[in-house]
Amino acid sequence: MFKRRILIGAAALMLAPGVAFAQETVKIGLVLPMTGQQASTGKQIDAAVKLYVAQHGATVAGKKIEVILKDDTSVPDVTKRLAQELVVNDKVAVLAGFGITPSAMATAPIATQAKVPEIVMAAGTSSITEASPYVARTSFTLAQSSVPMAEWAFKNGIKKVVTLVSDYGPGIDAEKSFTEKFKADGGTIVENLRIPMRAPDFAPVLQKVADAKPDALFVFVPSGTGAQFVKQFVERGLDKSGVKLIATGDVTDDDQLNGMGDAVVGVINAHNYSANHNSALNKSFVEAFKKANGGLRPNFMAVGGYDGMYLIYEALKKTGGDANGDKLMAAIKGMAWESPRGPISIDPATRDIVQNIYIRKVQKVDGELYNVEFDTIANVKDPVKAAKK
Ligand code: PHB
Repeated sequence: MFKRRILIGAAALMLAPGVAFAQETVKIGLVLPMTGQQASTGKQIDAAVKLYVAQHGATVAGKKIEVILKDDTSVPDVTKRLAQELVVNDKVAVLAGFGITPSAMATAPIATQAKVPEIVMAAGTSSITEASPYVARTSFTLAQSSVPMAEWAFKNGIKKVVTLVSDYGPGIDAEKSFTEKFKADGGTIVENLRIPMRAPDFAPVLQKVADAKPDALFVFVPSGTGAQFVKQFVERGLDKSGVKLIATGDVTDDDQLNGMGDAVVGVINAHNYSANHNSALNKSFVEAFKKANGGLRPNFMAVGGYDGMYLIYEALKKTGGDANGDKLMAAIKGMAWESPRGPISIDPATRDIVQNIYIRKVQKVDGELYNVEFDTIANVKDPVKAAKK
């Protein structure tokens, strides 16, 4: 009788304490645009997160990792609702993803209120990290690539530039930071052109560029839109007009670059990641990513997702598996490691990424188009925040 009671008690212990069991799982709410205009970003990051988990296992510091993927359809109101549900219903310890700036911004108040870290793996507007003390970023800021692009342009004989950007957060950051640096160096900005972020029609602005005849056109459009821009640039004969195309690497995105055709060969651009980056780590990353995804080439969004997972895993190791938001944020600050893109770190003061920016030229390598890096600006902090100090 006594023995039986013990047995029943042990069985009850094993079955009943759902709470104790739940504590053993750390849930990550991954909110991405899997459909809609930014679907390529969602696909790239989801694939990178899955690869990271496959390579590093689903257990960290004794805790089981569960990634809950939600499709925000590239609509910020949906992002916000999903983030809220993930926090309240699923009790996620970390929110991650965020394909576009408005989605990252819409989630920041939830991160603050719930004290849940928001790991921004894609969006690039400078101010996102200032929207909540619980935001940390593994992607990039637009000024990080736009300022080196402006510097390279002026040094290399380009004196008159028209800028063309998507009319929202990252585009405005790209326009402002390029314009300020290029003017400070002695260059002339002929015109600042903006196009709508949703369903852009490049025809009217490209006519203006043709009329203005600058030495170069500087362009930012978000990942997934570059091929459409290039097509219209070529259709309007601008590739043969003597107007050089210079850009942030969002335009010559690895996800689409190979389909853009020979018109982009020779385009100079600045960015944080190229699938052609020459390091052992990147070579094995690209190979593993392609193998797991039917030959898909990883782009800079994939790397932001992969590094975001590294950040979450390593932060959990540092806290000994404690998923408390404040403890995770403390662990994240100042973390430094080697990414497929090169050395990176999280600035402890701003929670924003510090990384190398590479000047690249689109070239054919073994019959495929790649951004081939030829110059490196090391350890670039977000220039917008640096200027505020
Ligand atoms: C953004 O919305 O912040 C964003 C999206 C795609 C990019 C860059 C920035 O390529």
